[in-house]
Amino acid sequence: MQQTPQDLRQIEALLDFYTASGVDCFLGDEPVDWFGLTSEQAAQRLQNMGAVAQAPQTGQPALGGDIRHVPAAPRQQGGGPASLSSPAAAAPSGASATGAPVGQVPVTGQSAVLPDKAIIAAARELAASAASLDDLRQCLESFDGCNLKLTAKKLVFADGNPQARLMFVGEAPGRDEDQQGKPFVGRSGQLLDRMLAAIGLDRTAVYIANVVPWRPPGNRTPTPQETEICKPFIKRQIELVDPDVLVFLGAASAKTLLGVQDGIRKMRGHWMTYPGLTREIAAIATYHPAYLLRSPLEKRLSWRDFLSIRQALQDNQKEKS
Ligand code: URA
Repeated sequence: MQQTPQDLRQIEALLDFYTASGVDCFLGDEPVDWFGLTSEQAAQRLQNMGAVAQAPQTGQPALGGDIRHVPAAPRQQGGGPASLSSPAAAAPSGASATGAPVGQVPVTGQSAVLPDKAIIAAARELAASAASLDDLRQCLESFDGCNLKLTAKKLVFADGNPQARLMFVGEAPGRDEDQQGKPFVGRSGQLLDRMLAAIGLDRTAVYIANVVPWRPPGNRTPTPQETEICKPFIKRQIELVDPDVLVFLGAASAKTLLGVQDGIRKMRGHWMTYPGLTREIAAIATYHPAYLLRSPLEKRLSWRDFLSIRQALQDNQKEKS
């Protein structure tokens, strides 16, 4: 049967829908119960799929015992075996509480991991081992403990000036950020740029990062586990930047990093403190620019927050001089 342009448009629309929903790899027509397969059956299936993954030990259920990886197609980013070790911690000097060498967790193969306490503990050790922002970026590049990395195109580490006195923290990158590897470069980022310009700043005067540095598929909200796994890295990033003023864009980042429970309407505009390494950092939450794009009337409240941020920077400067 010949396909008409109309058919092709429909197929294209369907593919767009799948992509927007986070479906970005082909797995198979039939669901597979990996837990019900023996290691040989699993290995055979993986071979048929053309996947290069380490099979569990012979005679064990495919996902039994302490094997915590689920078979997945090999990752495009990076190479080599799964690694949760930092450049700094590459030569382990002892065992961690998890029983793994410091900076590593006992994960086999480069594939999806089941998020658990050991991974969160490894993330903490790894993040703490970073002595600089470059180090931290490398730690994240080599960290395979967060499954979002499997579907993201790029690590979205930061943008702006690492020496800036003002730091913004968002929730997680979207599609544009994932493509460019920089936070807040899409429509909401452009609005953020305009808001910064309104108080006389641009990206050379601020540092911008996200709690979660990989795009969740289809822009879904990161799960609590994903957030917990990524949290040590953004905490270390804040420590290393050590800004005078910290701004949370939206409730999610404020809740994660300040442990507050209020909604953004209640929380925004009120100064709080964030526990820095050597001092308390002035912190405030304001509406996420993506929300402002949907609710432009709220921009007047954001404007107040931005004036307050400018004032806080000026006051802090006076105190220092
Ligand atoms: N939303 C975020 O929270 N972060 C980005 O980088 C982009 C959109």
